[in-house]
Amino acid sequence: MPAPIMDDVAAYYNRNTTPFLRFGRGSRGSGAIHRAVWGPGVTTQRGAMDYVHHRIIAALQTAPEVDGRPQATPSSRRYADLGCGVGGSMIRVHQETGAPVVGVTLSEVQHREAERRIDAAGFGGELSVVCGDFSDSATLDTATAGALLDGAWMVESYNHGAAADRLLSELAARIRSGGTLAICDDFPDPRLVHGELTPRERRWRSEFLRGWHVHTFLTTDALASLADDAGFDCVGFEDYSDYVAVDRPRDLLVRVVAGPAAAFDLRSGQWDNIRGGNALQQLGKRRLIRYGMCVFRRR
Ligand SMILES: C[S@@+](CC[C@H](N)C(=O)[O-])C[C@H]1O[C@@H](n2cnc3c(N)ncnc32)[C@H](O)[C@@H]1O
Repeated sequence: MPAPIMDDVAAYYNRNTTPFLRFGRGSRGSGAIHRAVWGPGVTTQRGAMDYVHHRIIAALQTAPEVDGRPQATPSSRRYADLGCGVGGSMIRVHQETGAPVVGVTLSEVQHREAERRIDAAGFGGELSVVCGDFSDSATLDTATAGALLDGAWMVESYNHGAAADRLLSELAARIRSGGTLAICDDFPDPRLVHGELTPRERRWRSEFLRGWHVHTFLTTDALASLADDAGFDCVGFEDYSDYVAVDRPRDLLVRVVAGPAAAFDLRSGQWDNIRGGNALQQLGKRRLIRYGMCVFRRR
């Protein structure tokens, strides 16, 4: 059974998925509910949404040989998208690699919408989605049908999870030796965890954690150490922080609204979201939060 905090995350996405898809400039066309990354060579909004997909594909495809044998051809590999939203990333990775992908989402609303999009794209035979908690062994057993995965990724979903150590050991049991785990999310700089912060920085940190339903917030080093315990080697951290847009007109509007909301301590789903989003921007601009992807290889 999911823990109560997972019910809270599920309710958040059940409530907000339609507005995210309707009003999120990048999500509207791509069906991906994550940040646009304006990395080197990216010139279009769609390219910025795809940037993370291309980095995931690169991480999946650089998996080394296993026992001296070359890897299976891409179309016979099996991948999982843990926290798959409405399936935008699964569809893109499948289009580029031909590999079957199973997605997991906590939200029933997303589950229905992902299945609809997969059918509409004509990939019903290769892509499927399970509704459940990605750290729950029964959910993962259903998703993997007892076979080892060649790789898995998590885009802006890992931070919502309740227990990174349990998640990593569940994944280590389901990813083959040499397989990849890529985690793209917000990671605190060590100063945000151990350093001296101003009262304003402390307030932003708690507004971000509460407003964006963050239950796991580890530095990349702390995550790498837990992953090592679980059986993964850290291959590296790709930092995308400098490629994420800040101070767009909507960010400035959010900032104007977030100030009084904090002064009057206004709370509710929507206020928390606004205050959390502003706090993330402020901490990101001060380099106290980094956005990027940790890549791990199963030993
Ligand atoms: C910001 S959305 C990102 C969606 C998707 N990765 C993308 O890039 O389009 C976060 C996703 O994480 C999922 N999620 C969060 N915690 C989860 C959990 N414990 N188990 C399964 N899915 C989870 C949510 O249901 C949602 O699909």
